[in-house]
Amino acid sequence: MDTKRETIEKLKKEKNAVILAHYYAPPEVQEIADYIGDSFYLSKLAVKLTNPVLVFCGVSFMGESAKLLNPEKTVLMPDASADCPMAHMVEQSVIDEARARYEDLAVVCYVNSTAEIKSWSDVCVTSANAVKIVRNLPNQHILFIPDRNLGHFVAAQVPEKHFLYNEGYCPRHEFMSADEVRVLKDAHPQAQILVHPECNNAITAMSDYIGSTSGIINYAKEHTDCQEFIIGTVSGVIYKLQESRPDARFYFPATRPSCQDMERITLDQVIHVLKTGENAVAMPPESIAEQAKQTLTRMLELAQ
Ligand code: 13P
Ligand code: SF4
Repeated sequence: MDTKRETIEKLKKEKNAVILAHYYAPPEVQEIADYIGDSFYLSKLAVKLTNPVLVFCGVSFMGESAKLLNPEKTVLMPDASADCPMAHMVEQSVIDEARARYEDLAVVCYVNSTAEIKSWSDVCVTSANAVKIVRNLPNQHILFIPDRNLGHFVAAQVPEKHFLYNEGYCPRHEFMSADEVRVLKDAHPQAQILVHPECNNAITAMSDYIGSTSGIINYAKEHTDCQEFIIGTVSGVIYKLQESRPDARFYFPATRPSCQDMERITLDQVIHVLKTGENAVAMPPESIAEQAKQTLTRMLELAQ
């Protein structure tokens, strides 16, 4: 009897497929993935890979972005229902009203958004490149959608521009408890606090570092003089953190933040989509796809 890992290896060869996983996927999924990364790394990678089949262990906006950038490839989602609630949290009227008010407006859209929302926007960003891209845009007025927390984080780094915000948020990061982080800091006063910019203001205000999932992992890797870290993001990142800093200790808020949708992905689902080709991401309608692809392509160009 093959182990699940052996079955996946065989099927990958048969189909010439490659497996991509986000850092929030369960550890056993990250273990069998060919590439693990943050949203920016995975979207760049999807363009570079030559395999005709990509299995994307993430949520729907990730698979959809990979499909938009690679229309000729088959993108398979092990769990077709894995979605990001924030990816839907903006109304078109917010954009229309802002465009009517400011002629010189750039609509900057977090990659955690549907293809339709991307199609309303001028450029896409991820948490790893948002500051750089927004700073270099020629526009003075920026509407940041859908995440208000990432929008405020970028605005603080780019004070020379005027920002408009939208009321979207990631429930996992927004409702993380600052009191729980304070309890951890009291118990481990030497620990540095590393958080994702999707966190609420009370949490970012007490942090030592704010960055994307890969930013957090790299920070812990480079700061070897520190042995303890309090982590303000989804606990799936522990897999890579422990691998890169086996000597360090990592603490998460007691109400362990989890991205339930990504954490549902199983090896059996990976095997199933590889065997059957089910859950292939459909190309969005033409009226949306072209502009949505442009916002993503512009991000890849401006982030160079
Ligand atoms: P990263 O791009 O930092 O991996 O973040 C993606 C995400 O969904 C965070 O909640
Ligand atoms: Fe979306 Fe939040 Fe999950 Fe990230 S952690 S994919 S923002 S629900």
